[in-house]
Amino acid sequence: MVFVIYLETAYYVTRIVMKKGVFITLEGSDGSGKSVQAGLLIKNLKKLGFNVVHTREPGGTAVAEVLRKILLAPKNKIFPLTELLLYEASRAQHTEEIIRPALNSGKIIICERYSDASVAYQGFGRNMDKNIIFRLNEIATSGLNPDLTIFFDMDIKKGLGRARRRGKDRLENEDFEFHKRVRKGYLWLNKKFSKRIKVIKANDTIENIAKKIFDIVLIKITRIRAN
Ligand SMILES: Nc1ncnc2c1ncn2[C@@H]1O[C@H](COP(=O)(O)OP(=O)(O)OP(=O)(O)O)[C@@H](O)[C@H]1O
Ligand SMILES: [Mg+2]
Repeated sequence: MVFVIYLETAYYVTRIVMKKGVFITLEGSDGSGKSVQAGLLIKNLKKLGFNVVHTREPGGTAVAEVLRKILLAPKNKIFPLTELLLYEASRAQHTEEIIRPALNSGKIIICERYSDASVAYQGFGRNMDKNIIFRLNEIATSGLNPDLTIFFDMDIKKGLGRARRRGKDRLENEDFEFHKRVRKGYLWLNKKFSKRIKVIKANDTIENIAKKIFDIVLIKITRIRAN
């Protein structure tokens, strides 16, 4: 009897203390404000006492950061299939080394770019077979999907103008049509996964966008943790 009471108490204490992890990704074209908003969101979440991890793709781990350098260096000539596989390799390492352990220990993960980026950039930007990309994403992440994705939508010319002020990388060097297809890809994903992906108009002030994102994120965290 005493043992049963002990077990029940332990169960309830564990439920209260062990918070559920929440996986949030930020997506959108280059210069749409992901990094700026990730910084603000994390600052606001930490103020409320949340345990937050900030990470990004490609990269996020020592091995994946090496892959990032290869992928983004303008001098590298990389074939579309090589590019896709390098992104997936980086994703596999990043998922196992950072995201899954952080989720299992109940943290909030804010990740700039994830699987959706491969569908948008390689699937739409490079016109590669989307089914193959979905399958590779599934393999690289062992089926892990974000709980919430914020898609920063904005006029491509404005976004590229913003990003180019700090110097172009290999993908930003692509032509305007490529970036138009990438945006189309993100909008297509938004339609397909409308419950997970929330669109934010990125052509607003930094403060207004930060407020909108904070509201969406808090609702999501509360819902997940209430269950
Ligand atoms: N709402 C905004 N209004 C005006 N300028 C902004 C806004 N958000 C971000 N910026 C500026 O635009 C530039 C690009 O922003 P940021 O680096 O956050 O974009 P990003 O989406 O992370 O780009 P990338 O995909 O290339 O990493 C920065 O100089 C930033 O200060
Ligand atoms: Mg960035």
